[in-house]
Amino acid sequence: MTESTPGNILVINGPNLNLLGTREPEIYGKETLSDIEAKCRKHAANLDMSVTFRQSNAEGEIVDWIHEARTTARAIIINAGAYTHTSVALMDALLAVGLPVIEVHLSNIFKREEFRHHSYISPAAVGVICGFGSRGYLLALDALADIIEK
Ligand code: DQA
Repeated sequence: MTESTPGNILVINGPNLNLLGTREPEIYGKETLSDIEAKCRKHAANLDMSVTFRQSNAEGEIVDWIHEARTTARAIIINAGAYTHTSVALMDALLAVGLPVIEVHLSNIFKREEFRHHSYISPAAVGVICGFGSRGYLLALDALADIIEK
C-alpha cells in the first residue's frame, strides 16, 4: 500500500515528541517515536490501511501538512504536543480541511497541570484518546477503520 492509496492516514506528531524514549519516561514511556511509527504501520496494514507518519517542532510546517492531507489522506491522527494547548492555527487548519480527525495524547492530560486540560484540537476532532501511551495511536486507527468505511 502506498501513501496515495484510499486508506491512507496522516499521523502528525508535534513538538518534542522526537525526544520520546528519553523525554520524561515516567510520563511518556520508554518507546521512541520510531517504535510507535513501526507499531502504527503494522497495525494499519492489518486494517488494510497505510500511514504517513510525521513529526515537527514547527507549527507552520504542521499547518502545511494538514493542508496537504486534503489530497493525500482519508483522515488525520494528531498528537499536537504542547501546541494542543496553544494553537488556534492548528484548530483552524483541521476545521478547514474537514477530514475526520482523532486527537491522541500519550499521557492523561486531565490528570496533569490545569493548562493541559484545554485543547484547541478537540473542537475539530471526532474524538480524543489520552492516557493509554502508544496504544492510543492504535485505538485511533481502529476507530478510523470504522469511520472511513461508513
Ligand atoms: C502530550 C501532552 C501535552 O500536554 C504535552 O505538551 C506533550 C505530549 C502527550 O502525548 O501526552 O508534548 O501531547
